[in-house]
Amino acid sequence: MESLAPKSDDRSAPGPNRDSLESGCARAGRFKSRARSEFDQWAGQYDRSLLNFFLFGPAYLSMMQEIAIWRKEHPIPFDALDIGCGTGTLASLILRSDWPATVTGLDFSPAMCAEASRKNNFDGQRGAAIAGDSEHLPFSDASFDVVTCANSFHHYPDQQAVVCEMRRVLRPGGVLVLVDGFRDNAIGWAVFDVVIGAIERDIHHAPWSEIHGLFETAGLTNIRRRKSSLLFPLCTTVGIA
Ligand SMILES: C[S@@+](CC[C@H](N)C(=O)[O-])C[C@H]1O[C@@H](n2cnc3c(N)ncnc32)[C@H](O)[C@@H]1O
Repeated sequence: MESLAPKSDDRSAPGPNRDSLESGCARAGRFKSRARSEFDQWAGQYDRSLLNFFLFGPAYLSMMQEIAIWRKEHPIPFDALDIGCGTGTLASLILRSDWPATVTGLDFSPAMCAEASRKNNFDGQRGAAIAGDSEHLPFSDASFDVVTCANSFHHYPDQQAVVCEMRRVLRPGGVLVLVDGFRDNAIGWAVFDVVIGAIERDIHHAPWSEIHGLFETAGLTNIRRRKSSLLFPLCTTVGIA
């Protein structure tokens, strides 16, 4: 008797379209490998880039301010994880502050991790840089008090999966600080969607309403945002685990 179950190659079978699933996976793989090879090439000159002044510097400042705000209510030694850490500049700022903290940087680009380790003399005691994918964080649940991510989120093909991972590794009461381009006004749209979108391709600067939804779905609370701007408008989103 002929089976009524759909055959594995039956494209008319109900359920997700196989072609669209395959192209979704291929697209995600392309996002990631393009980002990795671009940042591997950029790692050696990254800190001398003009973008450090206009975009990355203000993002570090915003993250440090948010950590300071969180610390007023949590004046304890803390463990921080910086996702998409690049050359480890935020780690340097935290380690040079008077906060009793450890910092782990994670980046998809091995060359960025090497640069972050070299710059910070990471010894594995107070700091380390680990090559890895933000979608699959190689840490146990509730391992960190502070999770940060600056100028990297738009490279992630599955942004909801990443926010869930960020939430998973946070301890109760810990804080997530996410900084990326603010694209909800005309300047932000022109800069991030039109110009940077054309240069980098395969990226997604989410509007704040979308980021708020990602945080909420991941179970974060007290979600708020702050907009800052020098030349490029930035949005800092904060949530508590
Ligand atoms: C523009 S740089 C930002 C670096 C640093 N946070 C800063 O603000 O200077 C973006 C970084 O995200 C990293 N990245 C891209 N996709 C990633 C992924 N899936 N997982 C982890 N890091 C990723 C890149 O390798 C790159 O170092």
